[in-house]
Amino acid sequence: MPSTARLPEELTEEYARTLDQADELAPFRERFAIPQRNGTPVVYLCGHSLGLMPKDAPAAIAQELDAWARLGVEGHFHAPRPWFSYHREVSAALAELLGALPHEVVAMNSLTVNLHLLLASFYQPRGQRRKILLEHFPFPSDLYVAQTHVRWHGLDPQDVLELLAPRPGEATLRTEDTCRRIEELGEELALVFMSGVHYYTGQRFDVEAITAAAHRAGALAGFDLAHAIGNVELRLHDWEVDFAAWCSYKYLNSGPGGVGGIFVHERHGLDPGRFRLGGWWGTPESVRFQLLEEFSPAPGAEGWQLSNAPILPLAVHRVALRLFQEAGPERLYRKRERLTAYAQRWIDYVRSRLPAAPLRVITPPPPERGAQLSLLVERDGGKLYSALQEANIVVDWREPNVIRLAPVPLYNSFADLYRFGQALLQAAHVLWG
Ligand SMILES: Cc1ncc(COP(=O)(O)O)c(C=O)c1O
Repeated sequence: MPSTARLPEELTEEYARTLDQADELAPFRERFAIPQRNGTPVVYLCGHSLGLMPKDAPAAIAQELDAWARLGVEGHFHAPRPWFSYHREVSAALAELLGALPHEVVAMNSLTVNLHLLLASFYQPRGQRRKILLEHFPFPSDLYVAQTHVRWHGLDPQDVLELLAPRPGEATLRTEDTCRRIEELGEELALVFMSGVHYYTGQRFDVEAITAAAHRAGALAGFDLAHAIGNVELRLHDWEVDFAAWCSYKYLNSGPGGVGGIFVHERHGLDPGRFRLGGWWGTPESVRFQLLEEFSPAPGAEGWQLSNAPILPLAVHRVALRLFQEAGPERLYRKRERLTAYAQRWIDYVRSRLPAAPLRVITPPPPERGAQLSLLVERDGGKLYSALQEANIVVDWREPNVIRLAPVPLYNSFADLYRFGQALLQAAHVLWG
């Protein structure tokens, strides 16, 4: 068993606690329900998959149930927060996290559904401009969305979809290679469709540079921000990103299957000629109940809405986003950097103590990462994952050989990372010592 005495000073438990005492965001941890095992809180490092529940969530849902019980249908206009316009309760907070104008965002549906709606508008192959460029190893849903849109247009995904590949021996993409490929595809390229932070490697892509390259090629650029929103700085409006979608159950802590959202740059959102699939909730409020015979969209992202909004998940989303507003993005991202560096420091230390351990962080260093670290384990990865689970460290395992972990600044502490580091060290001793 490795002894604590030999730890470098900054990795001791005392030092971690000192860092927590000096952390101005530390009180936010109390505002979340931390899962427990045998009466002890786990070390929850899985916010990249499902964020924790804000303790305000049950009351937020209860408030809407109460309005429903008291008011019935009248709640649409007379609930304390009328349901008719409830989605706007979250627009300002989302816009701040995305670097967007409030009318460029709307909370609605779920992520894959939204990606389909957006590709219906933004993948319009014409002549030889038909190709879609995706990152390597895209999240399956993104790939399936792209494949099925291509087929819908009567084209063959084999001819039209291109997946970027890292250089031989490298795990992540280089921005210059991505931009060069975009330039080479030139007039054949219709759409760059990538994520903001890669779900598997944790690499944060240079959304600004990639969007600019796509535009220079005459193509559009849209992003799946599932792992980016609430995690990394975004300035979608200024970067002129064409469209984006995300889910709210990861870093936004808005509950399993929580309501997703879309960004549509105002250049498209205010263009009535831009095709969008229609539903009554996408029409301007002033005419929505006139049930007109022809679909005419509301200006902005709201024109992509189809159905009336899911109030109960939105209620959770509202209180979850309020915590981001209270914490403020600068403090949040600053703490993210420090926590993630601390987790990396522990992994580096374990590797230095056990050089035979087949462990390697494949996530690039800042600025090309957010909170997530992807630990590639060449052998016995499943055993390492189980050992961490047994030590009450909640991370996740992604086939074929990666353990993902994300220290989340709103609720993780330096003491959490001390517990993680100790568990990793002990498991590595058992497996490879
Ligand atoms: C990058 C990415 N895209 C898409 C999805 C699919 O999300 P949903 O099930 O909400 O459609 C996920 C889910 O984890 C994801 O990580």
